Amino acid sequence: MSRRSALLLGGLGAAGTAVGGAGLWWTLASRPTSRTAPETGAELSQPSELRSAGGRLEVRLDAGPGQFQLAGRQARALGYNGGIPGPTLRLRPGDVLSVRLANGLDQPTNLHVHGLHVSPEGSGDNVFVMVNPGAAHDYEYRLPADHPPGVFWYHPHHHGMVADQIFAGLFGAIIVEDAEPVPVSTERVLVVSDTTLDGGGNVVRVSQMERMLGREGELVLVNGQSNPEFTAVPGTRERWRIINACVARYLSLRLDGQQLQLLGMDSGRYRTPSDVEELFLTPGNRADVLVTTAAGDSILRAAYYDRGSMAGMMGQGRGPGQTGRPDTAGPALATLRVAGSTEPSPSPSASPLPPLQLPLPGVPEPEDLRTAAVAARRQLTLSSGMGMGMGGGMMGFTINGREFNAARTDTTVTAGTVEEWTLTNPSPMDHPFHLHVWPMQVIEEGGQALPRPEWRDVVNIPAQGRVKVRVAFRDFAGRSVYHCHILDHEDLGMMGVIEVR
Ligand code: C2O
Ligand code: CU
Ligand code: CU
Repeated sequence: MSRRSALLLGGLGAAGTAVGGAGLWWTLASRPTSRTAPETGAELSQPSELRSAGGRLEVRLDAGPGQFQLAGRQARALGYNGGIPGPTLRLRPGDVLSVRLANGLDQPTNLHVHGLHVSPEGSGDNVFVMVNPGAAHDYEYRLPADHPPGVFWYHPHHHGMVADQIFAGLFGAIIVEDAEPVPVSTERVLVVSDTTLDGGGNVVRVSQMERMLGREGELVLVNGQSNPEFTAVPGTRERWRIINACVARYLSLRLDGQQLQLLGMDSGRYRTPSDVEELFLTPGNRADVLVTTAAGDSILRAAYYDRGSMAGMMGQGRGPGQTGRPDTAGPALATLRVAGSTEPSPSPSASPLPPLQLPLPGVPEPEDLRTAAVAARRQLTLSSGMGMGMGGGMMGFTINGREFNAARTDTTVTAGTVEEWTLTNPSPMDHPFHLHVWPMQVIEEGGQALPRPEWRDVVNIPAQGRVKVRVAFRDFAGRSVYHCHILDHEDLGMMGVIEVR
């Protein structure tokens, strides 16, 4: 970092009136820390599980502060029901999920069921509900009988506090089961999150500059653990449900030495899983994968990904991303040790599995909106630029030039129609675009048509890039939101209101 940018940044930290140059990234990445090293190598734990029965699941979620084990040390953080992550909720299509959310925080919160195709109205997945400290709210989510199976998650959505509350530990997994179970020896939930603890074990408050960049915690955790380990015997098939619950960190995951097959991303399912070497998960995305084990130790790593920076705003081009350094393989998230014998044994977990039947039974051909009649075309522009922030902020985070206003409806859609949205990002950093309730089919990325139906609820819009999606606004009407899933950006205003009627 040059002395000039160091000086510039010094001034910035004190006065907060200018945007720094390329050196900014390095300052954040190499910020001096007094923190103790995380404890690694513990046995991978699983969040507790609550499973629906007879078409219902009733749960109480207590959001509150407490002492938690994070990265092997005692931390003061926030959790649901005393855990980070909160309990995994296992549902079936057609179920009713009732949640009493009790707010034990000293600030407002609420609950969002990310990716579920349920009503956004009333006590459904309504992000406009505010639950005050000490209060509770009863949510009821009715999953349609044809709800897609897959990996979903829940987290707070009270505008202005979302990033801080997730960074402090408020998130949990939701699984919607398959019609026909895929034969596997073991199923694991891997909730990836990041956070930063100070020397006293408190979750740090981040600076305004980190919010603008999208904060990345120093600890990258799986189920609250730092590089936990787990074992398997060779030749078995495991199913991993991976959630990127980080506020802003992109995950480009690799598990060298093992065979990975992608069953689905978000609520999108493939009838025939494809072999993959890398799983690209923006904040909010989920992957449903099969791992066929081969002898040896393999490390699940989050490889370097350059999501751009604000450096370009000073006309200096793209700076190094915050997600890692170009010269490193990225942090180790977990270690899988595969050893032992594949001989048939009395233990069911070690017995050989039948080969996968393909295409997978019970997985329907995915819907394809490429041939659908399009009722409306819109353009949504995600901008992060200088000098237009509300409330004196130095950066504005907007969609179509406007910051979020809960009282204003930005996009009105006719129920029952299919629309095509062109999502553009003229800014120098990537923004992951998320639409609630109605999944998006990605039609075109950077001018390239996609060869097969790809369904997502969070779609990356690269810096200076453009992506086309189509959305079928069926089943549910009502008001909801779309936003950048770098949750700092959402809190800073990069969110809009949609009404389907
Ligand atoms: Cu996962 Cu509106 O968010
Ligand atoms: Cu969501
Ligand atoms: Cu963003």
